[in-house]
Amino acid sequence: MLSSSLLMIICFYGATVQNVDGWGAVGHSLVASLAQSQLTAEASQWVKSLVPWYLSGNLTAVATWADSILYPDTNPFDHPNWQWSRQLHYLNTPSWVCSYDPSRDCINDICIEGALRNYSKRVIDANFDDIQHKEALMFLVHYAGDVHQPLHVGFQTDLGGNSIKGYFMNQTFQTNLHSLWDSGLISIRLSRDYGSNITSYYEHIYSLMLEQGSTSNNEDFIQWIQESLKHVCQQIYLDESNMIMNASVNFTLGNIYYERNIGIIEQRLAQGGRRLGTLLNRLAADRLTISSRCDKLCSNMNKLITMLICILARTLMS
Ligand SMILES: *[C@@H]1O[C@H](CO)[C@@H](O)[C@H](O)[C@H]1NC(C)=O
Ligand SMILES: *[C@@H]1O[C@H](CO)[C@@H](O)[C@H](O)[C@H]1NC(C)=O
Ligand SMILES: *[C@@H]1O[C@H](CO)[C@@H](O)[C@H](O)[C@H]1NC(C)=O
Ligand SMILES: *[C@@H]1O[C@H](CO)[C@@H](O)[C@H](O)[C@H]1NC(C)=O
Ligand SMILES: *[C@@H]1O[C@H](CO)[C@@H](O)[C@H](O)[C@H]1NC(C)=O
Ligand SMILES: *[C@@H]1O[C@H](CO)[C@@H](O)[C@H](O)[C@H]1NC(C)=O
Ligand SMILES: [Zn+2]
Repeated sequence: MLSSSLLMIICFYGATVQNVDGWGAVGHSLVASLAQSQLTAEASQWVKSLVPWYLSGNLTAVATWADSILYPDTNPFDHPNWQWSRQLHYLNTPSWVCSYDPSRDCINDICIEGALRNYSKRVIDANFDDIQHKEALMFLVHYAGDVHQPLHVGFQTDLGGNSIKGYFMNQTFQTNLHSLWDSGLISIRLSRDYGSNITSYYEHIYSLMLEQGSTSNNEDFIQWIQESLKHVCQQIYLDESNMIMNASVNFTLGNIYYERNIGIIEQRLAQGGRRLGTLLNRLAADRLTISSRCDKLCSNMNKLITMLICILARTLMS
């Protein structure tokens, strides 16, 4: 396990992921870039020490790592060893139950909320080694994005919208509701209004993030989840005639659905980016307190050892 994670982190697969589970590559990149723009100098240094050295601290380049480890096309030899992490990308509530109950929806902490808690502890926990810290950071960057995609906090019965299928914008191929929210709506926005230039789209989301001001509930993962669930229950399932979509009928969605929902997506990306930045800054600061405590302890320990050696030496000489 350890050696496989080592290999995966060092020989990190940066290839574009096809069947991503979560915001698509664009959404995850945006969240990670926004977070990076918020980092304090300490946090930047710390992040730089954890991402693979050749990326020079670029958080965006590791944002889809947690997806890429899962699939044979991006991780041909090692993907079976990471399947345990698949369930950490989301959580589900029972159909049309609009509040999250950890004891029901996150058994044994195996869900995105448990993962956010787990990895924000592990990433600065001195009991874990460098490889574990690297892994924790890369999971954290990804899951903080996923949890802001409302359908990552969707209903069990339709697998977070995956089994609600249909057609979007007169496209001939079939898609599903989950995928529309991961990437379908974003990609229309990007090509329509930004000439498919991600940098220029990033600038838009960045200014949106600044307009939002500092988001409240910075480390309240349960609140982030409740916000996603609220969008799921209020709006996401309404088709263009305000009927509730379900798995037994193919949907046909276009501009009306797009116009109604693209704003929510952009708000969620901006919130996710800001909150991830704030979280990493706090963790970087806590880490310094922890290590300075350790420094003190270590220097006390050194003094003690020096003293013992002196006593021993004196005893031997006398
Ligand atoms: C960071 O990585 C992303 C994704 O690989 C890339 O598009 C971007 O140009 C990189 N940024 C810098 C500053 O190198
Ligand atoms: C916490 O992280 C470790 C290391 O990746 C993993 O083995 C464990 O399953 C995680 N637990 C939860 C509840 O996410
Ligand atoms: C889809 O096709 C219909 C009928 O041809 C047309 O009215 C509509 O504008 C098209 N929608 C888009 C988004 O291209
Ligand atoms: C993309 O947008 C950025 C920022 O607006 C701009 O500097 C850059 O030249 C654009 N790239 C292309 C290929 O047009
Ligand atoms: C699914 O949606 C269709 C169209 O709105 C509706 O006629 C049908 O009754 C719904 N089925 C269920 C099981 O809710
Ligand atoms: C939905 O579309 C698919 C592919 O076109 C088709 O096979 C299926 O029968 C349709 N389902 C319904 C319920 O209309
Ligand atoms: Zn994901």
